[in-house]
Amino acid sequence: MRTIAITSGKGGVGKTNLTVNLAIALAQQTYSVVVFDADFSLANLDIVFGIRAEHTLADMINEDLSITDILVRGPHGVRVVAGGSGINELMHLNEDQINKFFIEFNKLHGVTDYLIFDTAAGLGEDIMRFNEAADEVILVSTPDPASAMDAYAVAKLIFSRNPDAYIRVLINMADNEVQAIHVYEKLEQIAKKFLNKDLHYAGYIPFDTKVTECIRKREPYILTSPFCAASKSVRELSAVLTGKPPYTPRSSSMSFIRSLLGLDEDVTAQKVGYY
Ligand SMILES: Nc1ncnc2c1ncn2[C@@H]1O[C@H](COP(=O)(O)OP(=O)(O)O)[C@@H](O)[C@H]1O
Ligand SMILES: [Mg+2]
Repeated sequence: MRTIAITSGKGGVGKTNLTVNLAIALAQQTYSVVVFDADFSLANLDIVFGIRAEHTLADMINEDLSITDILVRGPHGVRVVAGGSGINELMHLNEDQINKFFIEFNKLHGVTDYLIFDTAAGLGEDIMRFNEAADEVILVSTPDPASAMDAYAVAKLIFSRNPDAYIRVLINMADNEVQAIHVYEKLEQIAKKFLNKDLHYAGYIPFDTKVTECIRKREPYILTSPFCAASKSVRELSAVLTGKPPYTPRSSSMSFIRSLLGLDEDVTAQKVGYY
């Protein structure tokens, strides 16, 4: 099982949406994926997935449920551990509860390929614990210089706690690839100069109005708009992480029907049961 923490310095940079769509992209590559809502302030992962969770992590700890009782099945078989109210208690657990937490999570070993933590933004102790527990971190920043500086602060803190940390940087809401690489390279140079550490480029996701449209409808864009630029970027990231070729959404065989009916690709994909 490989664990990935998705984190950022600034809030609202697109972590939760990246988590959801990346999890689906990994599942499309036939990996078994569990996603964990580690943002205790918002706990909105289930909403972005478009699912309803009956039980949350707080229930597992407080009501003696097992991890399998609280996992909710999302699209493409992605399993979700929802946050929910009372989640702040997680950071003030007694020893028995902490043991219970890790015993339950260890049950995922062997039946899970990727465990993804969707964290809150910033430098908080709880956030850092997840970043530290993960095999690798995907640090999300927008091209906004303030967001990049906050991302640097996060990288600095992660390296100070774990000098061997593996941090990939993903630039979200970029105008284009040139801008994204420019922002990344600046960050990489600062990390090299002041921390003597290497960062790794995870790629970029363009600012895409399809994304905002899908978020409004509570649909993961990778499913309802599989051909939009953001979906393509997320599939490429998934391929980078797994080292396997990206999943190819079905399209070519339908191009004739599409042009005949005057439908765009995304609508066709949805109508033939892609979702
Ligand atoms: N690639 C994108 N293109 C356009 N808007 C985006 C993109 N990614 C995220 N957003 C916008 O950013 C908002 C915050 O995203 P969210 O995933 O909730 O961020 P975080 O989890 O970092 O707080 C979304 O509601 C959406 O409006
Ligand atoms: Mg979030």
